[in-house]
Amino acid sequence: MDRIRIVGGNELKGVIPISGAKNAALPLMIASLLTSDTLTLENVPHLADVEQLIRILGNHGVDISVNGRREKQGEGYSRTIHFTCRTIVDTTAPYELVSKMRASFWVIGPLLAREGRARVSLPGGCAIGTRPVDLFIEGLQALGATMEIDGGYINATAPKGGLIGARYTFPKVSVGATHVMLMAAALARGTTVIGNAAREPEVVDLAECLNAMGARIQGAGTSTITIEGVSALSGARHRVLPDRIETGTYAMAVAMTGGDVTLEGTRADLLETALEAIRRAGAEITSTSTGIRVVRSGGLIKPVDVVTDPFPGFPTDLQAQFMALMTRSSGVSHITETIFENRFMHVQELARLGAKISLSGQTAKIEGVQRLRGAPVMATDLRASVSLVIAGLAAEGETMVNRVYHLDRGFERLEEKLTRCGATVERVSD
Ligand code: EPZ
Repeated sequence: MDRIRIVGGNELKGVIPISGAKNAALPLMIASLLTSDTLTLENVPHLADVEQLIRILGNHGVDISVNGRREKQGEGYSRTIHFTCRTIVDTTAPYELVSKMRASFWVIGPLLAREGRARVSLPGGCAIGTRPVDLFIEGLQALGATMEIDGGYINATAPKGGLIGARYTFPKVSVGATHVMLMAAALARGTTVIGNAAREPEVVDLAECLNAMGARIQGAGTSTITIEGVSALSGARHRVLPDRIETGTYAMAVAMTGGDVTLEGTRADLLETALEAIRRAGAEITSTSTGIRVVRSGGLIKPVDVVTDPFPGFPTDLQAQFMALMTRSSGVSHITETIFENRFMHVQELARLGAKISLSGQTAKIEGVQRLRGAPVMATDLRASVSLVIAGLAAEGETMVNRVYHLDRGFERLEEKLTRCGATVERVSD
């Protein structure tokens, strides 16, 4: 199993190209199930989760062709992938596939909308929390679907003639359930109004792509989204938006090590709350013509308190990385996690590097220390793993991050991007 070896202490200087967003690419790829025409997606990141979803979509009958040649764009790379689902050959998403990645559960929306039925395995628990599917069930029921749980699967059936537009207000904000409602309601009869919808940029990206395919969606990016159903969707060409979590992760890495890095191809408006927290910690952040420039030249890292929240709040997917930054602050900071109940697995691993963190319920208290010292560490989810990389970049000596497959799910060419900015980071294969 691969590991990442980091020797800390170097400042980061240079350019890091930001990839297409994993969490936008996944629902966009799933949207290809809604049409018999070709959906072409540009700027798709090369990640383990994307490859896994390619296998899952293939199982439903999607024909997928990846541009043979990687296009070099500036300093980065992107892939263009064509998805064509002439007919859905299987409306079952089996346990073996869904259990590996929660987002694959989202195929329930398009399968139900296009075929009138879907049998999808329940995704089960996950390391960061229980993550139930009640909001998906209620939302699809509001569109007239019958939802039955049987042997670990949800059997969803649309009424004769298809799903029916309706008003439905989520009792809690859910990114995934909002994606699914958009895809299901796009082909429903009549108008759907979703209240308390997720406002994440990835929801906006999906709505824009669906509109390019012929859907009639308004209000994405606000908490009320209106969808006028259409009878069929066509193909389209759409570019995946930049990854705001990758952007924030590298911005925090620069704030941690000091240096001067331009994050190329990304946008500040995708993560204003997180950038503001990094500014308050002591980094200068400016928008440039090509992306975002992050500079920290000397000076202490200041303690900053954050609370995670749905967009436009501080993202839960940057919580672990910000905690890594705060371990080196000049005082005491508090980080409160409100989205997932068990997303503090990085705490004990950061402690192995010398961090001082105590937990009380959903709040972590971080007492900044003057130095971290390298150690072998491991984490059980993607964002926790990368927080250990950030800490390792600022730690004295060698840090070995085990179970790198978590990083490969969400960070494209991480060691190459960091090495080009002067970090000592290498992948070690046993
Ligand atoms: C998406 O997950 C992201 N995944 C997550 O990123 C991200 O952490 C999360 O949104 C929150 O921003 C993708 O986009 C692929 P939710 P999702 O439904 O949609 C509860 C990463 O590291 N809930 O918004 O699964 C749920 O338990 C990943 O890239 C219900 O109670 O998250 C959680 O507490 C990890 N019932 C809260 O809502 C439901 O039916 C928000 O979850 C659904 C969710």
